[in-house]
Amino acid sequence: MRQMKNFIFIALCWLAAQQAFAQKWEKIGDKPQMGWSTWNKFAGNINEDIIRSIADAMVETGLAEAGYTYINIDDCWHGKRDKDGFIQPDPKRFSSGIKALADYVHGKNLKLGIYSDAGTGTCAGMPGSLGHEYQDALQYARWGVDYLKEDWCNTTNINPIGAYQLMSDALREAGRPIFLSMCEWGGNEPWKWASEIGHSWRIGPDIWCNFDSIRVHSEGYTDVGVMQCIRRNEPLRIYAGKGHWNDPDMLEVGNGMTVNEDRAHFTMWCMMASPLILGNDIRQMSQETKDIVMNREMIAIDQDELGVQGLHYGDRQGLEFWFKPLKDGEWAMTILNATKAPITYDLNWQQFNLTDEEVSHLSTNFSSTTYKVRNLWTHKDEGKTNLKDKTWKSVTIPSRDVISYRLIPITK
Ligand code: GLA
Repeated sequence: MRQMKNFIFIALCWLAAQQAFAQKWEKIGDKPQMGWSTWNKFAGNINEDIIRSIADAMVETGLAEAGYTYINIDDCWHGKRDKDGFIQPDPKRFSSGIKALADYVHGKNLKLGIYSDAGTGTCAGMPGSLGHEYQDALQYARWGVDYLKEDWCNTTNINPIGAYQLMSDALREAGRPIFLSMCEWGGNEPWKWASEIGHSWRIGPDIWCNFDSIRVHSEGYTDVGVMQCIRRNEPLRIYAGKGHWNDPDMLEVGNGMTVNEDRAHFTMWCMMASPLILGNDIRQMSQETKDIVMNREMIAIDQDELGVQGLHYGDRQGLEFWFKPLKDGEWAMTILNATKAPITYDLNWQQFNLTDEEVSHLSTNFSSTTYKVRNLWTHKDEGKTNLKDKTWKSVTIPSRDVISYRLIPITK
């Protein structure tokens, strides 16, 4: 009897704890999310035909097969709230409604994302979710939405932890697993508190299609280039992991940088286990862009099961050396040349015996382990990390480009 009472007491405590600490949706976001978003290419000029044709292209180009899943509608899909407060899409631009779009996208085995804001209005002045969180989450779930990006404009006097927790709870309550992509831009250090609330969080301002410079708007806010995103993200690797990723923002590949810059941009996002959300018009991609965004060997680095964000090991002769531990003792290694001139380097693996002290505690050991070297951009094997030779190879890395390898241990 006494045991029974104890059991009931513990069960009640457990239930109470579940109520008090609603949990985010688990098991989505175990790998960095992959998909496409309207914002970088179309900004607010969107409609349902674009979404449908992008979903078609996602499948026809092979992007879907390469792993890209989410079709995300960013800002400006909104119409008004109805008399009961439920948000409706713009009746002209999304006349068939979001449910019909979700059905269309699901029919192609893809997922649909939508966008809102924790404040009174979105960054483009559309209705925000403040005061309507449960209603909005319910509406998204009823429509069959799979992903919510929640922005941070117009949030004066709002507590960010509370605001995002509220939406997370609302999504949970609405009953449909929805990925929560938090877009707070890093001002309140979400990496320190958001891992139990959402699945990814933006770490900085908006990216723009530029490799290495900042654009300042007349209103005072800034957009950042690829290198600025990397610099912000590299100290944050201890906060990333399965189900909770640092988000250095959506990709600009195919939007106007050089092929070298695009390749470096994509590679570094993969090295940092970042979300891979395409931002170009995938209905009309050059072969070079296709080769970059559909490089499956590179995507596999991003999506590796270990889920560890890569580390910036150090710099030599103006080059940056990055390592990312992978499952089964493998490593990805990237040499990034962020400078404006090509650099030639004598690569000696013995200089890269390292331990990832901060996250995985895994080590490379080129003295006791020989690795097979796979070039991730030429898709060729380049031999082994030879133990005896000091210089394994002399490599030239073009300006704003990378050389990237997968190292596969052949002796242990
Ligand atoms: C903010 C976000 C962007 C985009 C726009 C939409 O700037 O950071 O990614 O969603 O709002 O207005």
